[in-house]
Amino acid sequence: MMNKGEFIYEGKAKRIYRTDNPDQYLVEFKDDATAFDGLKKDTLADKGILNNRLSEIFFKLLEDEGIETHFIEILSEREMLVKALEIIPVEVIVRNIAAGSISKRLGIPEGTKLSRTVLEFSLKNDELHDPMINHYHIYALYLATAEEMARIEELALKVNAILVPYLEKVGITLVDFKLEFGRHKGRVVLGDEISPDTCRFWDIGSGEKMDKDRFRRDMGGVIDAYREVLRRLEGGDGAEVES
Ligand code: TMP
Ligand code: ASP
Repeated sequence: MMNKGEFIYEGKAKRIYRTDNPDQYLVEFKDDATAFDGLKKDTLADKGILNNRLSEIFFKLLEDEGIETHFIEILSEREMLVKALEIIPVEVIVRNIAAGSISKRLGIPEGTKLSRTVLEFSLKNDELHDPMINHYHIYALYLATAEEMARIEELALKVNAILVPYLEKVGITLVDFKLEFGRHKGRVVLGDEISPDTCRFWDIGSGEKMDKDRFRRDMGGVIDAYREVLRRLEGGDGAEVES
């Protein structure tokens, strides 16, 4: 029996609690959605349930492919048990197709395929709006060692190489996504979540957005799109999330 212990941290979409085991945390997925550093806010019923389940699916797939993640097990429809990580405060963005901030920053039309995968790094700091940083900043500020960064980049590219064909099989293009890593017993481990909040998913046939851009850009149908991603990954029926 895993007891929900002391509350540690509340993020924009999740809460973290201690458990009886100092090496394990409990993550609770909320229905809150934010964009533009919390400037835009809403509650989307069942988002937490869907992202908990979708993260479970992705983490299990990656574990099966030999990538260590923080995922241990699902505890309830909104809760997962994870390894306690010391978070490395660098957000890692992996891009296959130009969209969002890279399109704006570099003037690349959305939907342009990048001739090779692009990795970007941001400092995890909401007050500063997660500014983009490079390896010089990372080493000068002691955010991670060169050895850790080599491992992080290797893992990020490997995650991409696993997720792209997996999603393609269910008719989804993986445009880009964000990963966070942490330290656990001296190893670099994949943390946070993998969900439509942290990825751009486009329907292969129609190009329709199936991710948080529907919320960021006021397109509506946010939760229906998340449900559709889950339905496809679960292979057809049975994807109805009880509410
Ligand atoms: P961007 O184009 O806005 O930089 O986003 C790149 C990817 O990172 C996209 O899949 C959404 C994800 N992302 C997050 O997970 N958290 C964030 O705070 C931001 C800005 C983007
Ligand atoms: N989650 C971030 C925020 O609330 C940004 C985003 O995902 O667009 O600002």
